[in-house]
Amino acid sequence: MNINLFLSPESLDDFYFQDKNCVVIDSLRATSVICTALANGAKEVIPVATFEYAMKISAGIMSGQNLLGGERNTKKIDGFHVGNSPSEYTPETVSGKSIILFTSNGTKAIVKAKFSKDLVICSYLNLKAIANYLLEKKEDFEIVCSAKGGALNMEDTVCAGRLISKILEKEKDCTLNDGATAACALDREFGGNVHKMFRESDHGKILTENGFQDDLEICAQIDALEVVPVFTSGSIKLLNN
Ligand code: MLT
Repeated sequence: MNINLFLSPESLDDFYFQDKNCVVIDSLRATSVICTALANGAKEVIPVATFEYAMKISAGIMSGQNLLGGERNTKKIDGFHVGNSPSEYTPETVSGKSIILFTSNGTKAIVKAKFSKDLVICSYLNLKAIANYLLEKKEDFEIVCSAKGGALNMEDTVCAGRLISKILEKEKDCTLNDGATAACALDREFGGNVHKMFRESDHGKILTENGFQDDLEICAQIDALEVVPVFTSGSIKLLNN
């Protein structure tokens, strides 16, 4: 199994993903939100790369059936129903709804990987479920960390390292690119206490300054959700739904 990890989607062309399996990670907080929303009964999550496109699609889906969610500079956007905190995506709020999600980096990374043969969404919350899914599939895959501006970020790289390490426990015959090898080393060094790693990360500090410190604790709940969110035909749904 070949496992390639990219620290950011920035250098990749959309067509790179054609015919490839891909995992996108934005553990703080977009992919944690997606896992939570689907686990709590959302019909689907539609990731969008621009605010304008979010507005356009929301006008096309029957009102009452959709929710606009996401953030700009970590904060809920004026006129949106929900922000980018997993705690907002309760069963009462999301059940049966199509959620149009726009975030600074996470949803952009997902949209970038849209041509993948198979695209799944990973966070610490559903790490084991994604590892098992990939182990059963037994095919090469790419991991894309959402990051910001092309730079390495700790929360996604260390999460990716944990995912790869879980796979290596069961599947020894894997070839890793440099990014994947480095992510495993970072997981060994910093992944022992995920909440601490989040708190000390650049983005974790920004979230804390902006009053979202509780989200760090929620997003650090390893394997809290048994969900495999899959992107197909423009929206993310639970596997087999
Ligand atoms: C992102 O997409 O960059 C993040 O989810 C931002 C955030 O934490 O709100």
